Amino acid sequence: MKHPEIEKRIKDLLGKMTLEEKVGQLHQAGGSIVGAFDLSLEEILTMVQDGRMTEEEAHKMISEAKRDWHEDDLRAGRIGSYLGLVGSEEMNRMQHIAVEETRLGIPLINGFDVIHGFRTITPIPLAESCAWDMDLWEHTARMSAEEAAAAGIHMTFSPMVDVSKDPRWGRIAESAGEDALLNGLYGEAKVKGYQTDDLARHDALAACVKHFAAYGAAEGGRDYNRVDMSPQRFEEEYLPSYERAVKAGARAVMPAFNDLSGVPCSVNKKLLTDILRKRWGFDGMTISDANAIAECINHGIAADRRDAARQALNAGMDMDMTSGCFLDHVKELVETDEVSMERLDEAVGDILRLKFELGLFDDPYRSDAEREKAAMLTPAHRALAREAARKSMVLLKNDGLLPLKEGLRIGLAGALASDGDEMCGTWAGIVQPGDCRSIRDGLEVEQISYDRVTEGPLPDCDVFLCAIGEGKNESGEAASRASLELRDEDIALLKRLKASGKPVVAVVFAGRPLCLGPAIECAGAILMAWHPGTEAGPAILDLLFGRANPSARLTAGFPAATGQCPSLYYDHIRTGRPAGKFKYTSKYLDAPVEPLFPFGFGLSYTDYQYSDISASQTKDGIHAEITVQNTGDRAGDEIVQCYFRDPVARRVRPVRKLAAFEKIALRPGESKRVSFDIPDTALGYFDPDMNFIIDDGLIEIHIGANARDTLRADVNFIRENQAPAANTSRP
Ligand code: BGC
Repeated sequence: MKHPEIEKRIKDLLGKMTLEEKVGQLHQAGGSIVGAFDLSLEEILTMVQDGRMTEEEAHKMISEAKRDWHEDDLRAGRIGSYLGLVGSEEMNRMQHIAVEETRLGIPLINGFDVIHGFRTITPIPLAESCAWDMDLWEHTARMSAEEAAAAGIHMTFSPMVDVSKDPRWGRIAESAGEDALLNGLYGEAKVKGYQTDDLARHDALAACVKHFAAYGAAEGGRDYNRVDMSPQRFEEEYLPSYERAVKAGARAVMPAFNDLSGVPCSVNKKLLTDILRKRWGFDGMTISDANAIAECINHGIAADRRDAARQALNAGMDMDMTSGCFLDHVKELVETDEVSMERLDEAVGDILRLKFELGLFDDPYRSDAEREKAAMLTPAHRALAREAARKSMVLLKNDGLLPLKEGLRIGLAGALASDGDEMCGTWAGIVQPGDCRSIRDGLEVEQISYDRVTEGPLPDCDVFLCAIGEGKNESGEAASRASLELRDEDIALLKRLKASGKPVVAVVFAGRPLCLGPAIECAGAILMAWHPGTEAGPAILDLLFGRANPSARLTAGFPAATGQCPSLYYDHIRTGRPAGKFKYTSKYLDAPVEPLFPFGFGLSYTDYQYSDISASQTKDGIHAEITVQNTGDRAGDEIVQCYFRDPVARRVRPVRKLAAFEKIALRPGESKRVSFDIPDTALGYFDPDMNFIIDDGLIEIHIGANARDTLRADVNFIRENQAPAANTSRP
């Protein structure tokens, strides 16, 4: 929200700025690599490609190399922001140049990808979303902001709220899964956690909502690929999560790499101006994705870098992340009237506004080395990372094997069981080797004896713990997969362990849903651990030994076969021939249509019984209630999920859609009445002419433990005094 005093200061400053100085503010620079190794970046990439160097080695080399932050450009007022300058001392050094050695002393804003932790790593977003817990989401964001801000960061490129319905897409790991409501709530909680209610606090970060919009719908699950969909689907399924995160107060938004129905998001005026600014009233800053403006040439939408700069700025882009197109061409574009001075001032104003809000003009040096050192990986942070990991892991199968009894002799199998560094997953901040604890580390700390499974004869033990799945580089950006099957080595290992006749517990690490058929066959219990972060091992042992009761529930369905993707998601629309026994129905010859584990699914060490569902109409929506009882002998947290279905509508509607949920704690034997108030707008949709409508008539309410197992109550929903709504936007 605009603050009059800040607006006045922006106006005054704009009045003093030269055209070149304005253009400089639009440029975000990355650091170039210098010294440290005698190879150019191109040579390193070639060596990785032809196998002379591993990706890991290249990463290490690059991350340890010294950076050149283009001080001369900074001094000349040609840089408004940095990407990825980590460390308070180096940041303060650059800030001194900006504040003391440039003509107007405008401070820098420093952005970094603080995605699921900075030094202390919490579970990847897809995992953490399975906690269905807004308080947790906010707390972990707060923790990572404290660490990152202490290291000189001002803005994080998070939350990512891209609804992701295709697990082949590697970046599903960074999202809250396949549902719009969950992504929106996740984004809202993260924005609050990062920003607090006062951005000028030294431990606050500005949040940047990304990737606007619908990046998760990349065709074929292939990263950076096209997105093409009906406007209705876009409005109903993809847009709401960005809207919620933006309206939670996020001060920055990053347009996506992809094109949306033919127009790259970086130059998409409908998105960046009509929806974001005009419809939602956003007055923060937009920043392109890395090099994305220049990539409009590859999209075949811009003739050259100058043309790309013109289109992006005119569409509503404020800052150019690293492509240099704005820096090189905006001056000329303004001089030739291809971009108006008014539009340039607007873009610069948005950037300055955020710098003012962060307090950078009055207080440019927000941290120092001492504070930075004290902030990282504290015992309290480790404890929160462990709690988050426990709350994020989903128990998928348990034939009674878990919880394990103390004193059992464990056989530890699979390379991932002993590799702490693999536990952090994609975008792991500034994690250092040795920070993260593997299962083996956990066993050693607790002095639980175990034998390692090697190529040789299997050790004589009581139970096998078998780690399978993906390493940290197998999901995330540019890590799409054409096959979601377990790798052959994992399947062979599971079979070998099963053949011993001893019970097997499979612990699955991954950044996405995988096809777990072979694990189901071979293991008596399966714990989906995702990439759980710093406290992976201890948290896994907490759950396996029953010191904590699993409570996480899937936010994306698990496929039985890769070919089910991308039609696996729970809120798919209805077809004229729903899958059935009859041949001519919508299904596959060689795989089921249903997911192996549905959306919302997860087991516990106790049992919950649902009964007495009721639902009725209220003044402005539907009120629904259900009784949930813990019928087992352990305390637990249950995530009660409320879906609705509109059986007859003017456009084909989903089979069911999540309307609300509540996470409740139940002691053994205890029961609770859980109630939901669903606003009528949540029932609405866009008709074929793009009018937002809410139907009168039957609405089914389905409440239960996952999208498949629910009880039903019907409501004859008639809105009082309502002429059919016919407005083009969501109320
Ligand atoms: C990613 C963004 C990220 C940016 C900066 C890009 O490649 O798509 O999500 O924020 O890099 O690191």
